[in-house]
Amino acid sequence: MNWDDTTDTSAEERLVGASADREDQAVEAALRPKDLGEFIGQEKVREQLDLVLRAARARGATADHVLLSGAPGLGKTTLSMIIAAEMEAPIRITSGPAIQHAGDLAAILSSLQEGEVLFLDEIHRMSRPAEEMLYMAMEDFRVDVIVGKGPGATAIPLELPPFTLVGATTRAGLLPPPLRDRFGFTAHMEFYEPAELERVVHRSASLLDVEIDPAGAAEIAGRSRGTPRIANRLLRRVRDYAQVKADGVITKDIAAAALAVYEVDARGLDRLDRAVLEALLKLFGGGPVGLSTLSVAVGEERETVEEVAEPFLVREGLLARTPRGRVATPAAWAHLGLTPPRSGAPGNGQGDLFGA
Ligand SMILES: Nc1ncnc2c1ncn2[C@@H]1O[C@H](COP(=O)(O)OP(=O)(O)O)[C@@H](O)[C@H]1O
Ligand SMILES: [Mg+2]
Repeated sequence: MNWDDTTDTSAEERLVGASADREDQAVEAALRPKDLGEFIGQEKVREQLDLVLRAARARGATADHVLLSGAPGLGKTTLSMIIAAEMEAPIRITSGPAIQHAGDLAAILSSLQEGEVLFLDEIHRMSRPAEEMLYMAMEDFRVDVIVGKGPGATAIPLELPPFTLVGATTRAGLLPPPLRDRFGFTAHMEFYEPAELERVVHRSASLLDVEIDPAGAAEIAGRSRGTPRIANRLLRRVRDYAQVKADGVITKDIAAAALAVYEVDARGLDRLDRAVLEALLKLFGGGPVGLSTLSVAVGEERETVEEVAEPFLVREGLLARTPRGRVATPAAWAHLGLTPPRSGAPGNGQGDLFGA
């Protein structure tokens, strides 16, 4: 099954899902930092990218191709737009899934202006023939356009103007090495620190004309799972609450009360995350328990538990995936305010019966 498709759809309905839903797309344009100076956090990436772009500008040349990798909502699309802005170049936006045939890519490439930035989102989902065409375009600024079919087909080489490809992927590991090697600069985006997310929240609040105090911003940042997109989304929900239930000003108490309504807890877990942890602890004594068994206990599809809930629980150190099944960590017991069974006591072994 396709990992991306399932997470894209199931994450969309979650307040703490990291993919952009329709509402996000509408407001994101307004909240996007416009240049590197406005872009918060990611110090290393910013410093390196700044050098790449400055040097290219000083040479009067087109910037090297850039690959941005990292989880959804960390700022890849934003950075691609910043690259174009800093180079004072136009930007063309497309995505791997939109390029089904090599011909689609040829059409885009041959209509690029000199120095243009081509942003290729989800580059790991491009078709194979398009990928091979891209190799040559990136390296030699040339594509072979195939005219005709069968034995009579001929390749007509077409010169391209120099351009900068900015590729974005949530999964750099899925890129074929020949493609990865053709990027002059690769940036891996990390999850954000709480202090950085606080700055994101303050900045967005001011753009949205919402009054918020530092403790209120900290409260939202702490529940945002290291992800600016989630921080911005939680901020909008808290703003609604503050408007309806209070005087519109976001304080720590208002943020906490609002996010309690939306069932996003102090650490950013939502109802699904907590249901998984609770089943693991209360029904299976902390595990190990097989994924299928755990999913049935939660009343969710196996894929939903594995791909939507688990990655964050693992990243937070609340759950571990072991060969014998899922296991809760001591932090999970503490987070749900439960007492673990005496140390050394085994789980009830149901995971072994049903298999992972
Ligand atoms: N470093 C940052 N500073 C401020 N806002 C950010 C930053 N990174 C992302 N954002 C905000 O988070 C949202 C999602 O960013 P986006 O670039 O669309 O993420 P991605 O393309 O990686 O999924 C946007 O509204 C953007 O303004
Ligand atoms: Mg994006």
